[in-house]
Amino acid sequence: MSPAVLLLLLTSVGGASAFGRLFNNLFNRTASITSAFSSTCVDGNLENCKMWAEDGECEKNPAYMRESCKRSCGMCGGFKKPNVRIGCNDEEGYECEQRAAKGECHSNKGEMLIRCMKSCDACRWKSLLQDALGCEDKHNSCVMWKDNGECTRNPGYMMDNCPVACEKCASKRASCDRPPNTPPTVLPGDINRTMTRIWHEFPQYDPKPLSWPGGPHGPNAPWVMSLRNFVSDEEAEAFTSTCKQHFDRSLAGDQLSPVRTSYQCWCSGNECEAHRLTQIVAERIANVTRSQVRYMEPFQILKYEPGQFYKVHHDQNSGLFTPQGARVYTFFMYLNDVDEGQEEPGGGTHFADLGVVMPARKGHAVLWPSVMDAEPDRDEPMTNHEGLPPKASVKYASNVWIHNYDYRTPANANCLLTHRNTH
Ligand SMILES: *[C@@H]1O[C@H](CO)[C@@H](O)[C@H](O)[C@H]1NC(C)=O
Ligand SMILES: *[C@@H]1O[C@H](CO)[C@@H](O)[C@H](O)[C@H]1NC(C)=O
Ligand SMILES: *[C@@H]1O[C@H](CO)[C@@H](O)[C@H](O)[C@H]1NC(C)=O
Repeated sequence: MSPAVLLLLLTSVGGASAFGRLFNNLFNRTASITSAFSSTCVDGNLENCKMWAEDGECEKNPAYMRESCKRSCGMCGGFKKPNVRIGCNDEEGYECEQRAAKGECHSNKGEMLIRCMKSCDACRWKSLLQDALGCEDKHNSCVMWKDNGECTRNPGYMMDNCPVACEKCASKRASCDRPPNTPPTVLPGDINRTMTRIWHEFPQYDPKPLSWPGGPHGPNAPWVMSLRNFVSDEEAEAFTSTCKQHFDRSLAGDQLSPVRTSYQCWCSGNECEAHRLTQIVAERIANVTRSQVRYMEPFQILKYEPGQFYKVHHDQNSGLFTPQGARVYTFFMYLNDVDEGQEEPGGGTHFADLGVVMPARKGHAVLWPSVMDAEPDRDEPMTNHEGLPPKASVKYASNVWIHNYDYRTPANANCLLTHRNTH
């Protein structure tokens, strides 16, 4: 066992017990206070509440979570359990702050992100990091199996169960390294430059900003750009027809998030991805946003039935340390006309902080940033948005998230971070 791995194991054991004590303390207090206020305090969704709470949903969607995940959110009675991330700390004696200041959160991710989560500002992604970077043998017999040649005879099983004995920890982490030759999509000022260029140089899409810096929402308002006739009828048809059977599959109770009731289909590894027209749309988006197709997540095709919605949320969900970096842009396309003939059609995209709505019109698109123009390392606070429910008809849309760095290469190399980061 290498010293690094040994330290890693010690760290997690020490951390767990200190956290365990703290948690018990809080829990005992919670329990006594709870019983004074209310007799039932349980999670409504036993399977997912804990995971959602760890992902920060208690803060992001307090209304739903208070109702359905009381216990996991620590909202029992009058006492609020501190965020689960309280267990996220720097390892003592490792000089985390100094190392972070020297840039080691990037240059030495495998060590730093586990041992210095706090200084690396990675607490939000604690469980993801533990999954992706942690590396432990799960059986006492691993070393014996290795000596018997199982690492080469049964590589799949051994990779999962005996990565330390088989010396696979480094390659597991390497799948999450940022590939070489991945210049960032945006440096400070580039969002403004790209949006300004779209406004002036793509008249064929009749670009109109719904919000811009110096516009009605103030000097620091983000760009939100609407485009017309971006997707042709044939292209819209290519998305919806290749996804038809995949929507049906998600009907089978594949409830993805407490705040979203639409159905979805990933345009990935199927006839949707293989379709020439969906590839042409991807290249067009890369051209307009000055990005690259490999920096994009696969298209996500959405289907909303009347009354279905996606409550106010923000799209940026990736740690700066991930190979793909932040989601910098969302490019959202409407694939059909929603609520035709209705006096007030539904199905638009409502930008809650800006008070503007992009209507759902076939072929139109809207582009917005999820990070700040002047500081792309920080989330843009003004681009929270929601998918308004259609009233009378079905809504189809296609959505793509563009990262600051290559997404597809690490995703195809099975980097765990990338997969868990997607929702
Ligand atoms: C919490 O309560 C349990 C049983 O009620 C007790 O055994 C345990 O010692 C308590 N823990 C702390 C930290 O007070
Ligand atoms: C955005 O870019 C335009 C055109 O280059 C420039 O005139 C403007 O000052 C920039 N605005 C901000 C807020 O950077
Ligand atoms: C990229 O945009 C330019 C206009 O700026 C256009 O001439 C060119 O055809 C576009 N390429 C693609 C692949 O859409």
